[in-house]
Amino acid sequence: MTDSHLAIVVLAAGQGTRMKSSRPKVLHELAGVPLLGHVLATARELSAAHVVTVVRHERDVVAAAVEEFLPGAVVVDQDEIPGTGRAVQVAVDALPGDFEGDVVVVSGDVPLLDAATITGLLEAHRRATAAATLLSAIVDDATGYGRVVRDAEGALTRIVEHRDASDDERAIREVNSGTYVFTAAALRARLPQLGSNNDQGERYLTDVIGMLRTDDEPIEAVPVGDAWLVEGINDRVQLSRAAARLNAMIVRGWQLAGVTVHDPETTWIDMRATLAEDVELLPNTHIAGATTIERGARIGPDTTLLDCEVGADAVVKRADATLAVIGPAATVGPFAYLRPGTELGEGGKIGTYVETKNAKIAAGAKVPHLSYIGDATIGEGTNIGAGGITANYDGVNKHPTTIGAHVHTGVHNAFVAPVTIGDGATIGAGAVVRKDVPPNALALSVAPQRNVEDWAAGKHR
Ligand code: UD1
Ligand code: CA
Repeated sequence: MTDSHLAIVVLAAGQGTRMKSSRPKVLHELAGVPLLGHVLATARELSAAHVVTVVRHERDVVAAAVEEFLPGAVVVDQDEIPGTGRAVQVAVDALPGDFEGDVVVVSGDVPLLDAATITGLLEAHRRATAAATLLSAIVDDATGYGRVVRDAEGALTRIVEHRDASDDERAIREVNSGTYVFTAAALRARLPQLGSNNDQGERYLTDVIGMLRTDDEPIEAVPVGDAWLVEGINDRVQLSRAAARLNAMIVRGWQLAGVTVHDPETTWIDMRATLAEDVELLPNTHIAGATTIERGARIGPDTTLLDCEVGADAVVKRADATLAVIGPAATVGPFAYLRPGTELGEGGKIGTYVETKNAKIAAGAKVPHLSYIGDATIGEGTNIGAGGITANYDGVNKHPTTIGAHVHTGVHNAFVAPVTIGDGATIGAGAVVRKDVPPNALALSVAPQRNVEDWAAGKHR
């Protein structure tokens, strides 16, 4: 049920300078989903009446990601005034003027934080009828984070940013996670008063905490149980660390759901992949994008599947496949490259050193060795001899090759498209097939062999 007293502000306007990237930081990916996508998925779980995402740097691509991951969410533009305080101010200004509930602020660069932790924070905030409740974390290395400053009684007094902190303050290991609950009233009264007297010359949201303390408003910092939940991604070292952590959780989840994973350390499973029971994943395997794998399929080692569908009991070994459909009990590899539009039927085979693209290979059909099959249809039970190549490209246009059912092609056949081979036909070894072959015919295009008797005798003596 929607919580009409809850609004969520997602901060995603920053450039992410420390990533040193042309891509906005919040669009760098973790398990195949941008950081911002993870945060928006969490925001959605909280069933807030309002979700507002603040954008500025590369605003169009970031706004498009918001629409993708939380369709219909409000996007507001931060102006040229920098800082997290300003970002929250423009977001609060975009809420209905009569909204008087709680505002949860989350960062687009804190992807692993889960909805249950935020709900716990919100409940603590509401129990205490606080003006602000912030999620803190006790960390070993607090470098870069804002520090939680407490008084002699242990009560929260203010947040000081790392770059503005004294040596004593830098020794504090309790840090600000960048996740907070504020009452809308507390924000509306104080955001306009924020100054920018700090090392970065920005309006810091964190200064609102100190202002509330000065006004004797009830404020609280609640430490999170697992500090890694709130790890912010500011550079690529943190990105890979978070990726490994998330992957370990995803792999474990699938193991508990009945998937055999031989080597969790080298097995990568994206967020949107789905695997059935008794799927087996061998080492060095990446199940990427929205790949689905049915029961009993065996994938790997050394395999990447991006946005693929794999049928039950298929075997895919040392392969790279994108947007391919691999039928039940089909076999692929070792050393196969399946490009978009490949569809392999039940029990079919794409074997060793074979590349396919936009190729429909019917049930029981086999392309076992050393082939390129592009823009082609191959009928049921057909066998393509070793080295069969579709010459689909005339230098200007691509043309189709249609090979019927139960055809036997020879080794080293070239199919010069457009060309059609009828059901039951046979092609001789080495043939260059430039003309259509009728059903059940034998096609030969290689000059008859001529033997020169005793040729070696004359040459080597
Ligand atoms: C911020 C907090 C710090 C906390 C840390 C936790 C402030 C001043 N500091 O620091 O106390 O320990 O997060 O991860 O808030 N953003 C905007 N508009 C801006 C600037 C930033 O929307 O003008 C967004 C960024 O896109 C990012 C988030 O706010 O998603 C945090 O900004 P970032 O620059 O990463 O802040 P930190 O230095 O990490
Ligand atoms: Ca950050």
